[in-house]
Amino acid sequence: MTAVALPTYPHRHLLGIEGLKPDEITVLLDRSEAYVEQNRQIDKKQNVLRGRTLINLFFENSTRTRTSFELAGKRLGADVINMSESGTSVKKGETLIDTAMTLNAMRPDVLVIRHSASGAAELLSQKVDCSVINAGDGSHEHPTQALLDALTIRRRRGRLAGLVVAICGDVLHSRVARSNIHLLTAMGARVRLVAPPTLLPASAAEMGVEIHHDMRKGLKDVDIVMMLRLQLERMQGSFVPSVREYFHFYGLDAEKLAFAKPDALVMHPGPMNRGVEIDTEVADDIHRSAIREQVEMGVAVRMACLELLTRHLPNIRTT
Ligand code: NCD
Repeated sequence: MTAVALPTYPHRHLLGIEGLKPDEITVLLDRSEAYVEQNRQIDKKQNVLRGRTLINLFFENSTRTRTSFELAGKRLGADVINMSESGTSVKKGETLIDTAMTLNAMRPDVLVIRHSASGAAELLSQKVDCSVINAGDGSHEHPTQALLDALTIRRRRGRLAGLVVAICGDVLHSRVARSNIHLLTAMGARVRLVAPPTLLPASAAEMGVEIHHDMRKGLKDVDIVMMLRLQLERMQGSFVPSVREYFHFYGLDAEKLAFAKPDALVMHPGPMNRGVEIDTEVADDIHRSAIREQVEMGVAVRMACLELLTRHLPNIRTT
């Protein structure tokens, strides 16, 4: 990769999309583009983070996010440590803050955290000296997912502004939906939420989005269809009558997709529940589905975030 003057990104942490300015989002997306190309080469290794230590602290399950942060760190030359709740002293009763302070004492440069509590990443960022990246906190935010979704859309459509994006399914429990709503509206896209009333947050009406309960009306002429997983693990009680009925009304199949624009792109953050929120035929349609591309973009976006955030860390620590 050729040496270019790096655009500046003014923050040390990435805790959410809410509050980021459109030009800050653009800086992260533009830098990610360079890494997409780099990741398609045989030699993917850079030394931008050489000497730096990245700790992945995952208190919830993850395939894509954890692996891509690990790859992103390694491709930039950092030392990467992966920790999951089952392997930490949290299982012995240590609090999140005590765990974080213990790790902080080992002088990591970046802590990537996923936790079931909304606000966990923010809390951690107030206690440690390194950069903190939120890899998903409860139903609050998942900023790198929204960035990789935006990068996927921008590469396919050339822009974000003016597009109509339907975010469909379990919006209530989805940090992916929340981060995407903030990002897409900030960048001038129009967002529709399509869900049964039980799976929409009370605050949905104040989010600057259109609300639909009927999938066919909600998908009418949209550019992008973003499906969400039914997050059964976050539900106490019954939010949908049955999975079969849910698929009938809200599962994306070819018949419902036909209401969107003829070239509308289908997206899903994964993990997918085939036959619950999305039909296999649609998910695997190489002409319509960008689901695998989203995963590819995830590594590039996380490399850009790691690079730009760590530029705010001191090179020499005096304390
Ligand atoms: C999402 C998450 O964990 O919030 N997955 C992901 O990071 N790709 C969505 C989900 O779990 O449904």
